[in-house]
Amino acid sequence: ATLTIQTQKPVAKVSPMLYGLMTEEINYSYDGGLYAEMVRNRAMTEDGREPRHWFLVENGNSQASISIDRLTGPSEALSRSLEVNVQKADPNNQAGVLNDGYWGMAVRPDTVYKGSFYAKAAATDMGPVTVSLVNNNTGKAVATATVPELTGSWQKHEFTLKTGSDVEASAANHLVITVGHAGTMWLELVSLFPPTYKDTPNGNRSDLMEKMAGMHPTFLRLPGGNFLEGDHVYERYDWKTTIGPQVDRPTHPSPWGYQSSDGLGLLEFLEWCEDLKIQPVLAVYAGYSMRQEHVEPGPALEPYVQDALDEIEYVSGSTSTKWGAVRAKDGHPNPFPLTYVEIGNEDWFDRSGSYDGRYAQFYQAIKQKYPQLQLIATTPVKSVRPDVIDDHYYRRATEFYNDVHHYDKTDRNGPKIFVGEWATREGSPTPNFGSALGDAAWMTGMERNSDVIVMASYAPLLTNVNPGGMQWETDLIGYDALNSYGSPSYYAQAMFAGHIGTEVLASDLTGANPRLFYSVTADPSKGILYLKMVNATSTAQPVDVKLDGGSVASSGTLISLSAHSTQETNSISDPKRIVPVESQINGLGANFTHNIPAYSIEVLELKTK
Ligand code: AHR
Repeated sequence: ATLTIQTQKPVAKVSPMLYGLMTEEINYSYDGGLYAEMVRNRAMTEDGREPRHWFLVENGNSQASISIDRLTGPSEALSRSLEVNVQKADPNNQAGVLNDGYWGMAVRPDTVYKGSFYAKAAATDMGPVTVSLVNNNTGKAVATATVPELTGSWQKHEFTLKTGSDVEASAANHLVITVGHAGTMWLELVSLFPPTYKDTPNGNRSDLMEKMAGMHPTFLRLPGGNFLEGDHVYERYDWKTTIGPQVDRPTHPSPWGYQSSDGLGLLEFLEWCEDLKIQPVLAVYAGYSMRQEHVEPGPALEPYVQDALDEIEYVSGSTSTKWGAVRAKDGHPNPFPLTYVEIGNEDWFDRSGSYDGRYAQFYQAIKQKYPQLQLIATTPVKSVRPDVIDDHYYRRATEFYNDVHHYDKTDRNGPKIFVGEWATREGSPTPNFGSALGDAAWMTGMERNSDVIVMASYAPLLTNVNPGGMQWETDLIGYDALNSYGSPSYYAQAMFAGHIGTEVLASDLTGANPRLFYSVTADPSKGILYLKMVNATSTAQPVDVKLDGGSVASSGTLISLSAHSTQETNSISDPKRIVPVESQINGLGANFTHNIPAYSIEVLELKTK
């Protein structure tokens, strides 16, 4: 095969925001994932016959019972609690409850865990409360704290648990809360956090934040996905219920089959963006929920349009605005940057055909107040011309191979494109190398067309790999309570996003196997040419590279990701089986031959001269 590159002939500008992240509460992405909270069902809002994830503890001859009390809680939003009735206990035979966490609780040596709960007791004296992290297998406490005696009214109590140097890192732990005297106590919003990313209170897991940073993203599309819409209008992402003190957040059902704590609420999403130095792409609820419920355009839709305007103000307004001032009160006076707002999610599912009217109503109201914002439509509309259309692709590798020229002929005078969800779906829970090849091939097509594709984000991003933790297969990053890993697709994306120029160069590939894909971009200000090649075949492919109009230094950097088969993959127990390998390559110049190994994804970083 021969690849000719015209080094002096840029044919398109690369979008500076091409690669980003897409996220929602699916697969225990936040609760049981990124959001570092260790206590599951902390607000007692997961309904069930028994209080879910809370179990009775009766040491020695103590006796107790537990139930959900729906009539008392510390706030209007959290108006229920866990009632713990201790019939018999003494300081050496304590009784109470335990929480089993999100498939365990990760504990590490020499680590401080910060906890709190809201509680009250019936008039009787129950003595101090003992809080411990206990190893599931030994039954031994790895850290213990004491909280002073509870009073008859709701109060927040804080505690600190510190592990010693002899504790082994393990996810097999649970939290125990007990008392040494008979009586009744009520518990609500029981919380325990390990050290978080940048030590932010109520913050995120460091390993997952670091993995996301490693993808070199430029934006975060939030908060969904289906999570934005909810199954019903009343279960939509109602952002106003996700801000402010945790005790004022009622929690809500995610359409993915579990309750969302909303501990990671709108402000935490924005702070996540700030931590990664990226922009939010804010999706606003647009009056459609997944069980074919829609709000008619016109007066009925107005409150939802107003909610979106308020949300934009909360994100980007100064402190002199109503919602900017609320954000300041919530702890973040500085407004966040905002360029793109998406109106709804996948509204092609709305069989009523109401999206055209709904989009137009949101568009006019938002543009009137914020003319600078770029407004994304989730499917083509006729009433107004959207700035951007969001296209979604969930495919097999072969489908992506066969469609890499999808956007080559797209009208450059029409709306821009946001590939807001895409993935090769081969492998579970996380994509295998065959998926990474499909992804990489597709990314070469997106890069070549990144004058019209302004942004792209793989979905879903995260999955908890424990049984029952995943609702959607093929997710970029997998984890349990203790560890996390990147799939081959994760590394392919990190390689592509971390090595991209500012312009696409004219090029031509002849005599190549149809399963060989490539992209050429350059950054003239850095004097770098990035050549990406994807060999999705089982044999090595030699490519003669001819540079027309310039040359490159004789040595360059090669980053290579390869596998023995399409089925080879990374997993929680084998996390680094397939990772990029960096090396120096020599013998480069205006003409050189590069042999791309079987099943490999490569980036050549070349210095132009
Ligand atoms: O990414 C999983 C789901 O796929 C998203 O929630 C939805 O937008 C799409 O159908």
